[in-house]
Amino acid sequence: MKIFDLKNNIFVLETENTHYVIGVDRHGNNRQIHWGKKCNIDDYFIFGNDWGDENSNHTYLDEMKQECTVFGSTMYRDCVLKATFADGCREINPKFVKGEINGNTLCLTFADKLYSLEYDLNYTLFDNTDIISRNVTVRNTGNEPIILERLKSAEFTLPGVNPYKIKNTNGAWGAEFMQTEDLLDGGSLVFESRKGISGHNNSPYFIAHRSADEKQGDVYFASLAYSGNFKVSATRDLYGITRIILGMNDFDFEYTLKAGECFDTPVVYCGYTNGFGEMSRQMNRFCIENVLPKQFNDKILPVLYNSWEATEFNVNVKHQTELARLAAEMGVELFVMDDGWFGKRNNDRAGLGDWFVNKEKFPNGLDELIQNVNNFGMDFGLWVEPEMVNADSDLFRAHPEWTYHYDTREASELRHQLVLNMTRKDVQEYILNVLDNLLTNHNIKYIKWDMNRPFSETGAENLENPKMLYYLHTKAVYNIVDTLKKRHPDIAIESCASGGGRCDLGALSHYDQAWTSDNTDGIDRMTIQKGYSLLRPTKTMRAWVTDIAGINKPCSLDFRFNIAMQGSLGIGGNLLNYSKEDLEICKRNVAFYKEIRDIVQFGDLYRILDAEEDEILMNQYVTPDKSRSVAFIAARGTRFYKKRIPITFDGLDENKKYKLHLHGEDFEKTGSFLMNVGIPIHVHGAYFNETVVLTEI
Ligand code: DGJ
Repeated sequence: MKIFDLKNNIFVLETENTHYVIGVDRHGNNRQIHWGKKCNIDDYFIFGNDWGDENSNHTYLDEMKQECTVFGSTMYRDCVLKATFADGCREINPKFVKGEINGNTLCLTFADKLYSLEYDLNYTLFDNTDIISRNVTVRNTGNEPIILERLKSAEFTLPGVNPYKIKNTNGAWGAEFMQTEDLLDGGSLVFESRKGISGHNNSPYFIAHRSADEKQGDVYFASLAYSGNFKVSATRDLYGITRIILGMNDFDFEYTLKAGECFDTPVVYCGYTNGFGEMSRQMNRFCIENVLPKQFNDKILPVLYNSWEATEFNVNVKHQTELARLAAEMGVELFVMDDGWFGKRNNDRAGLGDWFVNKEKFPNGLDELIQNVNNFGMDFGLWVEPEMVNADSDLFRAHPEWTYHYDTREASELRHQLVLNMTRKDVQEYILNVLDNLLTNHNIKYIKWDMNRPFSETGAENLENPKMLYYLHTKAVYNIVDTLKKRHPDIAIESCASGGGRCDLGALSHYDQAWTSDNTDGIDRMTIQKGYSLLRPTKTMRAWVTDIAGINKPCSLDFRFNIAMQGSLGIGGNLLNYSKEDLEICKRNVAFYKEIRDIVQFGDLYRILDAEEDEILMNQYVTPDKSRSVAFIAARGTRFYKKRIPITFDGLDENKKYKLHLHGEDFEKTGSFLMNVGIPIHVHGAYFNETVVLTEI
């Protein structure tokens, strides 16, 4: 990893396997020169901008491959920065100020030629990876406010002129991370959230390729670490140039940058790899080392039980204790009580905001249950939804002004709840105090932080510029999570938003893990989890085994474990209804998971067979030293008499010898044999599932 300053305002960011080359031309324009394989450093130079305009309708400025397009002059393409100055001027006209290398960071500074606006393009490199982080810092160096209408984090230009295919997701509640791929031949593709949080629909990233697959092909990707409204806009112009900009959504957005104020945009992590598999592996490792909060990033995550599927709002000390006893017997390490424990929360119509224990359900307070859970040898965790309030709650009756609202408009309720105005200091203090007290007064080791509806009627009379609220809300959530973590460093926090509605890398820079989806159907999860795994770290993906045994045909408990063990395992079924045999199956699977979970949570993932394309899912995880591996194989169907499948493994050391057990037989084979010849498996009908552990001899 190194940054080369070629002394002519050209900088080469050299990662393990790639070059990212940027420069500033003699007119002061920032320029992207190369992103991809390493080339001869002396060959990098800037060309192309002195050839003159294409025609009177298309200037050379509009063709430039830039790192940060600003609004103004004859550039009509999408831009990163757009500002209105105090006198009404709405153009930015920059000059280059300096390029500075500081350790692993390159900072290119530009300033408006007349107005007091400065901005830095920041690039940081990291050890042992091809991932680079980028963002933009904007400064108001004058005495008057500047209104920023667009404040994006990074602009990318992809090499070559042939069209790219752009991967993203088009999901929903219960159907998170559904992958999409669109050919960007011309015009634009936009992936975004306008709902207040990053949401279930699109993802704040792009994955671009022309003909890549898991193992090979040029893949360019970037992921925005931000949980608020985002926008990823990709365009391809007439000349074949594909540009992609990521950042906070400019939909209903402004930021007033006061005199002397500085704004750091959310970070984007980007990379270029050979194949999608390498992309996911790099991002997984990178996130564990550099993105996840430090308290738990390198710790094995516990097997948890969550009460939601079993008891919904109907929680009480007796019932929860019974569940906890059974969970402990099967080896669960953390018992999480979900919704329903507070206020008048007997259904979703009341109670949100009243974060004190419901005395009818817990006459002796929370500690009785916590003590029982601890006596069973487990830690205790609790569900909260801090950003919300029901109209039927003491909090709302006391502070109706604490929600986003307009006095002249009726508030839309979704799930009978309203969004608290998190940009208000008093609201932030209330939430922080409530959570801090819960954690101080009870032996709670885990918080599941939920968020179950989008924003609406976004009035915020406390703000001079209410269009800042989306950003300020997100920042307030991050701040509260960080403060709680600072005050209670042994407490892990899970991000949940009606399932996987807030699982972006911004959330995962503050929360330790995420609830992936309320859809725990084993078959659907194959697809949901694949989508999650593309650019998010495996260990953050909470996966429960529940009683949702399959919509069309029930799949076995073993099958559901096979799928859920591919993330951080949880259990969520109503154990009180389980037979002795069922409980034994759970116990056996939990014990097995504990043997291999370090491989899953910290290993490299190889996606070998695809549930959609191959009907059979095979995911293999390998430890970084390649000494141990585990492969999960599960069939969602077996059409066309598929019974005997020759499977090969991946990611092993060619020269190491591994032992494995399959279909009652023991094998000892070298990595090269296993990766090139493989071993046939017998698929015994639909919902067949098998796990194969490979251990170096
Ligand atoms: C939505 C979450 O996704 C569920 O897991 C559960 O916590 C419910 N909210 C509780 O209301």
